[in-house]
Formats: sequence, structure tokens, C-alpha cells
Amino acid sequence: MVIDFSDRANRFIALDEIEDTYISDIQQKAQLDPYYPSFHIAPPHGLLNDPNGLVYHNGKHHIFYQWFPLGPVHGLKHWYHVSTEDFVNYLNHGVALTPDMPYDQHGCFSGGAISKNDELHLYYTGNVKNSEGEFVQYQCLAKQDTNGIIYKKGPLIEPDLTLTTYNFRDPVPYQKNGQTYLLVGAESVNHEGMILLYRQEDEKASFVGPIQLNVQKFGYMWECPSYFELDEKGVFIFSPQGAYSEDPYEFQNVFSVVYLIGEPLTFESGQFKHQPYIEMDKGFDFYAPQVYQDDLGRQIMFGWLGNSKSTYPTDRNMWAHMLTIPRELTVRGNRLLQTPLSELKALRQQSYSFMPSMDMVQKSFELEGTLQQTFRFMIANQQGEAIEFYSDGETYTLNRSGMSELYATDYGTVRKATRLTEMKQTFRVFVDASSIEIFVDEGATVFTSRFFLTGDWKMEVDGIIGMVHELSPIQKSK
Ligand code: FRU
Repeated sequence: MVIDFSDRANRFIALDEIEDTYISDIQQKAQLDPYYPSFHIAPPHGLLNDPNGLVYHNGKHHIFYQWFPLGPVHGLKHWYHVSTEDFVNYLNHGVALTPDMPYDQHGCFSGGAISKNDELHLYYTGNVKNSEGEFVQYQCLAKQDTNGIIYKKGPLIEPDLTLTTYNFRDPVPYQKNGQTYLLVGAESVNHEGMILLYRQEDEKASFVGPIQLNVQKFGYMWECPSYFELDEKGVFIFSPQGAYSEDPYEFQNVFSVVYLIGEPLTFESGQFKHQPYIEMDKGFDFYAPQVYQDDLGRQIMFGWLGNSKSTYPTDRNMWAHMLTIPRELTVRGNRLLQTPLSELKALRQQSYSFMPSMDMVQKSFELEGTLQQTFRFMIANQQGEAIEFYSDGETYTLNRSGMSELYATDYGTVRKATRLTEMKQTFRVFVDASSIEIFVDEGATVFTSRFFLTGDWKMEVDGIIGMVHELSPIQKSK
């Protein structure tokens, strides 16, 4: 059986209308794909996008994600659920939210979660297509009880078309002074991006006002807000659509992600005093990150290791995208630093020092080292197809123009960033079959990307002293 997704109606076929053989076929295809990752969270089949509902609850990290099960397209969205205690062993819980109610029947879109009185509260956007074909978006609540059963509670917030267009979504909760607040991304009626603040009262929420930011004319829609406080600072992260810059090093992707560091948000009024925004990632494939705090007080982030509006070479095998590795966020001055979560060290197997040229038998590995003023690092196959990362001392360049399978070339094949020479010249890279996450400048500069390189790999390194750590797969069980 083949579903023609170019017929958009087919993107709304419900999972329970599909034969099991279709699902087992596409799952097999996905799992056998040489581009399928081994230590990243990826969909069993179909398309994954945003991380959702990240929360530390009853001794476990819970990770949900946007999922369209039937193929590699943005169709009827569900929430899929996994959990872990150690970021090495994961439990698959399957679908958490199915779009099956009058207020969410055309998709359960992104949102966040909190742990309250031993229950998990999930906030998400319910979509309902109206007679004009517009998606009306409701901010909804669902609760998971201590037996793991999820009950939908319905909409907390109705859309207000005098304030926003139909683009009004991605509620994330934040608890402060005994209250639960919700931050919701939106497009204003004047087509400017905004974040709206609500105070939750039981199973309703009242509007406090828009978050007041000092950011003008910066994209038409802001998706996926996330907020946290650390070291007496407040940090906002969101994903603007339509952000643009004259600077050739900035905002090159179709959609991007920014952070703002400031004083803690005044929740009574929505006032936020902050420093200028900074683009969060300089690679090709990074979007919609979300942050949560764990029991150790760490701010942990996952992002979607992908981007909208592109087809990817894995589409032919009926799956698309993965989440980033978990990263810890810290603040230093006006910069956010991203550090791979320390638990990932438990994945290390064999380690060896860099040689100028190395045959890479394993395609899942970590690199750790120190950069010289100029350096170059390249992964290539026998045909000379390659991805490379290098610096002339002042800038970093990630060049994927030579990879075996090109995609999204309308947005260019090279990304650059200014080198922050005041930072320690650290180098940490995670490669997993078809993804690369590069952390330099102590994590102040990060490039997150997919790349598609066939055949056997070799790696060339010049101007970097360091080690290769081969990484074992994460363990997934039912
Ligand atoms: C961001 C986004 C969200 C939305 C979700 C739908 O990638 O567009 O705004 O809730 O994806 O899958």
C-alpha cells in the first residue's frame, strides 16, 4: 500500500484507519536506512518535528515530540512519548495525544508540560479546520494521572482574532510565585511576531498581555516560546518565521531561533528588559527548541534537528528528522552556552587520538579537542564527496556543498559564524550517521546540521588536537 501525500487530504488519514502491514513496512524501511541515527531520538517511522512537553516528573525525564506516523510529511500531528532516567536507556510509551476531539481533530500541535501533585499536565494546541480552510487554534490542557492515563480537559484559551491572526499556538507553562503562567506564540493582526502571556486559573486561563520586548519588525510569526530563569537572569528562546538580516552570517535558514537574555520577566505585566537577540544556532537544521529544569537544577534543551519547507533524502524511506542531543544551557555575560549533557559520556566506547587521516568504521562518534588558530576538519567518502568545517582564524565555515545528496540548496550550502576569540578554543562534535552537532567557543557557537554522505567514510583533521570517541547506541524498550 502506498499513500499519495501530494493529495493533501491524505495527510489527515487517522492512524487507526491504516492496516498494520503498512505500518510494519514503513517502520522496517526507516530502521534499515543507513542514515537512521543510533544515539538520537528519532521517529520509529513517519515525521518527527518539535520536542514537546519536556519535563522532569516522578524521577524521570519525559520527552514528547510532534509526530505524523504515516509518512515523511507534515500531516495530522500526534504527540509521541519517550522517557529516560539516564539518557542512555529510553522507554517508548507510544502515542500520548491523538487528535480525536472536536477541539483538536486536525492536529495536536506543540506545547509544554509541568509536573503537579504527581500528575503530568500537558499543554498543547488543538487545531480545527474551519469552513474557509483555516486552522483555528485552541490552547488545550490534558492531564496524565499516576497510572499513566491521559485525560483531555479541553481548551483553556480560545483564539481572539482581534489580537492575532489564526497563527496562535505552542503554549508553554512556567510556574512562578505559586501561579502557573502560559506563554503562547502568535502572529499579531499587523503580521508581527509576538508572545502572549496568560495566567492559569484551574481549567481556564486569563490574558495578562503580550510580553513586552524591545524587538521591532522581526519576523511575522514567533513559534515555540520557551523561558527559564538562571543566575537571576531571565532567558527567552523562540523561533521567528520571516526573520531577516543584511548580514550574510545571520538568519540564513528558512526559519531561525533566537535567544534574549535579560532581567527575570515581570509576570504581573509581561515586561521583559533584555539585551539584543542572538541567533542560537549557525547550522542548517535547528528549530523549535524547548528547555526544562531537572531535579539537579539544570536547564536542559532539546531542539528539532530539522527545518520546515525542505524535503530530505530520508523521505524515500518513510521517515524524517530527529531531535538534537540533550544539551545543558548556562549563561555567561550576554551569551548562552550549550554543553552536551554530561550523561552522554556513558555512550563512549573506544577512544583514540586524532591522526591526520582516519578511516571511520563507526558512523556514530564524538570528537573532543582544542583548536589552533586555523584548522580544518573533513568527513569524506571514497568519491571525494565531503562535508567540512574550518576556520581562517576569524570565522568558522561549515560547507556541505560537496555532500553526496544535496537538499534545501535554495537556502545555500555554506554557513558561517564569527569566531569568539575571547572564549577558550574548545571543539566538541557529535556525528550520528547523518547529523552533525558542532560546539565551539565553549558552546557559545553551535552548528547543528544534517548531512548525507554515502559509502565508507574517512576523516581528515588539521590544526586540532583531540580524541575520537566511538559512541554506542541508546537503548530503546517498550
Ligand atoms: C514549529 C511548528 C509549531 C507547531 C508545530 C506543528 O515547527 O510549526 O509552531 O505547533 O510545528 O507540528
